[in-house]
Amino acid sequence: MKILLIGASGQLGGELLRHNPGHEIVAPPRTLCDLERPGQCAALIAAERPDVVINCAAFHDLPACEGDPASAFRINCVAVRDLARACVAVGARLVTFSTDYVFGGARSVSWQELDAPQPLQVYGISRLAGEYAALAEAPDAALVIRTCGLYAQQGSRSRGGNFVLARMREALAGERIEMACEQIVSPTSAADLAHAVFALIAHPDAAPGVYHLVNEGACSWYEFTCEIVRLLGAPAEVVAVDRGARSGAMRRPLYSALANTRAAALGIRLRPWRAALAAFVESTSRGGAPLKS
Ligand SMILES: NC(=O)c1ccc[n+]([C@@H]2O[C@H](COP(=O)([O-])OP(=O)(O)OC[C@H]3O[C@@H](n4cnc5c(N)ncnc54)[C@H](OP(=O)(O)O)[C@@H]3O)[C@@H](O)[C@H]2O)c1
Repeated sequence: MKILLIGASGQLGGELLRHNPGHEIVAPPRTLCDLERPGQCAALIAAERPDVVINCAAFHDLPACEGDPASAFRINCVAVRDLARACVAVGARLVTFSTDYVFGGARSVSWQELDAPQPLQVYGISRLAGEYAALAEAPDAALVIRTCGLYAQQGSRSRGGNFVLARMREALAGERIEMACEQIVSPTSAADLAHAVFALIAHPDAAPGVYHLVNEGACSWYEFTCEIVRLLGAPAEVVAVDRGARSGAMRRPLYSALANTRAAALGIRLRPWRAALAAFVESTSRGGAPLKS
């Protein structure tokens, strides 16, 4: 299979390259495939004629999206529509990612793929619009994968790393860590997600539409942080705080854990979050380098 990978320098992009089971992957740098330059990625798709385009790029700095809705919609929705259109033109499938932040309503069980979304901020609204755009433009060829709380050895450049690496550094420094106890999520290893993505695109019965791919289970950021500290045996104190799922005026979902039902029906599941986190902390502690600021 020939794959065009957009956003290869990011957390998930890096893990897709690392765990490639043998596909031909073309991974252009952002300068050659920038979602902000209309027509550039479409021209590359037309020239490369891949079987699958995997789009890992997004504008996912939440406060920045809130302050610049036009850019959020241009990158997270209009550019995704253009990718879908370019894929249809060459008969390629499009795999594009979305977020748990399309949900927002009150809840205490994990959201399934067909549950009604209710985004609470510009970021979530622009991602949901991107989902609709991909599926409207390429109803037979688009797979939209929602995921949550990604972490990898190589952190996100735009987000300055990731949650797990930051908490590991604080824990090893013996800091007092204040962490939100009111937001329930499904934190996910980007490596585990990469394996699941390859399994999904290779599966003969993987129909177009929305999928939830996350490490199984749900926890608060506080509980997740306590587990990081426990795994490290670090001297840090973790303090639960409840900020009402708000960052200033911006609202975040109180409950955005995702349930994988569609991929699971095809036999594609990610392991429970505790097992994925334990493996990550163990290998990162052994490697050491990502923990230096
Ligand atoms: N990280 C999470 O916690 C999380 C949670 C839910 C959903 N997701 C979604 O999962 C997907 C992968 O996330 P990730 O954590 O791997 O993201 P990431 O580490 O921030 O990587 C994003 C990639 O996209 C590239 N990119 C950004 N803007 C671009 C543009 N305008 N044109 C072309 N490339 C651009 C980045 O390039 P640079 O390296 O140059 O910045 C980077 O290679 C995204 O759709 C994300 O929104 C992530």
